[in-house]
Amino acid sequence: MSDVLTIAVLGCGSRGRTYSKIIATLGERYRLTAAADLVASRREMLASLAPTGEIRCFDGAESLFAAGKQADVLIVATQDAQHFGHAMAALELGYDLLLEKPAAESLARCEELDRRARELGRRVALCFVLRYTPFYSTVKRVVDSGKLGRIISMRTHEGVEPYHQAHSFVRGHWAKAANSSPMIVAKCSHDADLLCWLAGAPVAAISSHGDRSWFRAENAPEGAPLRCTDGCPAAANCLFDAHHYLAGKRRWLSMVMDGWEEADDAKILDFLKTSPWGRCVYHCDNEVVDHQVVACEFTNGITATHTMTAFDCGRSIEIYGTLAALKGGDPYQEAGAPELWLRHHATGAIEPVEVSVRDNAGYAGHGGGDHGLVDSLDHLFRGEQALQPGLDGLAGHRLAYLAEKARVSGQRVTL
Ligand SMILES: NC(=O)c1ccc[n+]([C@@H]2O[C@H](COP(=O)([O-])OP(=O)(O)OC[C@H]3O[C@@H](n4cnc5c(N)ncnc54)[C@H](O)[C@@H]3O)[C@@H](O)[C@H]2O)c1
Repeated sequence: MSDVLTIAVLGCGSRGRTYSKIIATLGERYRLTAAADLVASRREMLASLAPTGEIRCFDGAESLFAAGKQADVLIVATQDAQHFGHAMAALELGYDLLLEKPAAESLARCEELDRRARELGRRVALCFVLRYTPFYSTVKRVVDSGKLGRIISMRTHEGVEPYHQAHSFVRGHWAKAANSSPMIVAKCSHDADLLCWLAGAPVAAISSHGDRSWFRAENAPEGAPLRCTDGCPAAANCLFDAHHYLAGKRRWLSMVMDGWEEADDAKILDFLKTSPWGRCVYHCDNEVVDHQVVACEFTNGITATHTMTAFDCGRSIEIYGTLAALKGGDPYQEAGAPELWLRHHATGAIEPVEVSVRDNAGYAGHGGGDHGLVDSLDHLFRGEQALQPGLDGLAGHRLAYLAEKARVSGQRVTL
């Protein structure tokens, strides 16, 4: 390996583009060498991030793999159901991987990927971007410092936000687990990863409950047509009216509509008339849950709960130790409390914890996690602190997949 870490990108959609743009700003450490996507404009956008000819373009995974290894690391940012096949092929070619979550569409396949990566001596980092945010890296530092004493239990909470739920998990790519992955994996594998990372031990037992309670036909306003663009009588008061994409929710189109930035209202309306994102949220073919709770126990005795709901916004965490409790996250900050603080049991004193924003990316892009992850790539893949061969983050995937098994079966799952 040279001093510069070379990186190829498979899947130049929303995530592939996001990472590549950050990589291009860290040019002295990283070099993009190849971009593959089925859609020409997407791979060309990536190619435009470097001088002409420096990034080789490929019209899909097959041609990329047929050309042999193009870089030290391959970013796999295709859709969920493709990750396993693309990751396996890339491992065989000798790539280390930055793999979008979920690593695969089942736990068995995640474990197979881990096994093969170990056999081949390859590192697979997952895009668990939250670990790399200033907020959660501070939480981890506090836990590791011993300031909380022994950790007894933890609570995490994720408010997906109603429009985000509608965009991604009702109308969008992750509406059906069979085409992607269950909601608790697609959205909360980040939280499952955080819980395992902070507990520092494998999960031992899991229970879970949840359902699709709101986004179903019986909750549709009277007379609502199948598409918002067909004249809905309830449009004026509907939180989910697709016409919001023309105004306050326009940025969500960046993930699903090519050329959205230049598109005028007429073009966006055309898109809404024909694409899944113009459909009434109560008349979609969505199957995934809109709320789910998980309770689990780790092998070191720590217990944890996680709540996911469409009807709140932002994440929060509480960690209860024998000396102090840590609390923080979006809802606290919204309410005017510090973003992160400790409550010391001995004195009842409240100690705000400073979350240092390390770089000029601040909190942009998953609370700074997109930038933090890209910034960490050279440490993840080489040097003394590099990852061990295998799938880093398997524990979080195991927790999320088994939570879904527990929810669907109604049974407590033990390991
Ligand atoms: N880490 C995170 O926080 C996070 C956030 C959002 C999404 N994701 C995950 O990232 C992945 C990508 O999501 P996205 O929003 O970028 O999706 P996207 O649809 O915008 O991008 C996927 C890209 O892959 C391309 N593609 C499909 N098949 C291909 C093939 N055979 N060869 C080459 N390219 C191919 C598509 O044309 C598309 O451009 C998903 O698995 C998603 O679950 C992760």
